[in-house]
Amino acid sequence: MSNKHVPLKARKVSFAWEDTPLHWVPGDPFTTHTINVLHLLLPAGERWFVHVYEQVLPYIRDERLREDVIGFIGQEAMHSQAHDEVLPHLRDQGLDPTPYTAQVDWLFEKLLGDRTLPPGRPRRWWLMERVALIAAIEHYTAFLGDWVLNAEALDRRGADPTMLDLLRWHGAEEVEHRSVAFDLFVHVDGDYARRVRTWATAFAALVFLWQRGTRFFMANDPTLVDGRATFRDFHRRGRQGLLPSTGAITRSIPGYLSRAYHPSKECSTEQAVAYLATSPAAVAASAAEKSQEGAA
Ligand SMILES: [Fe+2]
Ligand SMILES: [Fe+2]
Repeated sequence: MSNKHVPLKARKVSFAWEDTPLHWVPGDPFTTHTINVLHLLLPAGERWFVHVYEQVLPYIRDERLREDVIGFIGQEAMHSQAHDEVLPHLRDQGLDPTPYTAQVDWLFEKLLGDRTLPPGRPRRWWLMERVALIAAIEHYTAFLGDWVLNAEALDRRGADPTMLDLLRWHGAEEVEHRSVAFDLFVHVDGDYARRVRTWATAFAALVFLWQRGTRFFMANDPTLVDGRATFRDFHRRGRQGLLPSTGAITRSIPGYLSRAYHPSKECSTEQAVAYLATSPAAVAASAAEKSQEGAA
């Protein structure tokens, strides 16, 4: 656990996917595809975070928080791009994600988009509602980031190192910036009823989209005949440490709804920063940045 303030910066990572197999958790399409749902949701989802936060910047009256939000925007834009770049690789392997991503794009761009609201209170209400939704979602991105940094069962199963690095680089930055969305929500609004309401929406939407995405991948995986996904599959992988356990997910709920909640009380900044210091993608990004600075 740590509360230390770390200035946020985007690491300009890139990944080469040629050698990553379709089932990058060997012999386990269910775990592979459950985690692959991230590549379906995050490109549009994190672009939407950026879009909303750019609108909220004028409401911030604290210089450090403004810097954090700008750093957060840079990191999320990079996350969105990195997950988006996995999609052509899936398509090359016979798994076209477009039917699903088209729906996710509609959800974030239209349903959760700006709407034509009159200026003043209605517009502000909708902005605050979305800021609160992002805080609730970020509770789960930090939860998942912390989980994947500690998911040694994936290493033991021989999971693809490039995919693990993508997940852990992203997970580490989620842990690193885990307080920003909540601090921003508290700064501009912080209403407890809104926190509870938007948590319920975010949680229900995440469960719905995730099980649907997993079933989509299992049904369309060209190597599987009659590929299915059940809750029992999920529960079993959780017990094996290959996915977050249902118990841990359940326990995370009262945490967010507690009036004493603050993200800094969960996860470890030290662990995140230590991973980023050794992540092959993050190390390569920082070397490229240094050589560019040297050339300038
Ligand atoms: Fe992210
Ligand atoms: Fe995030």
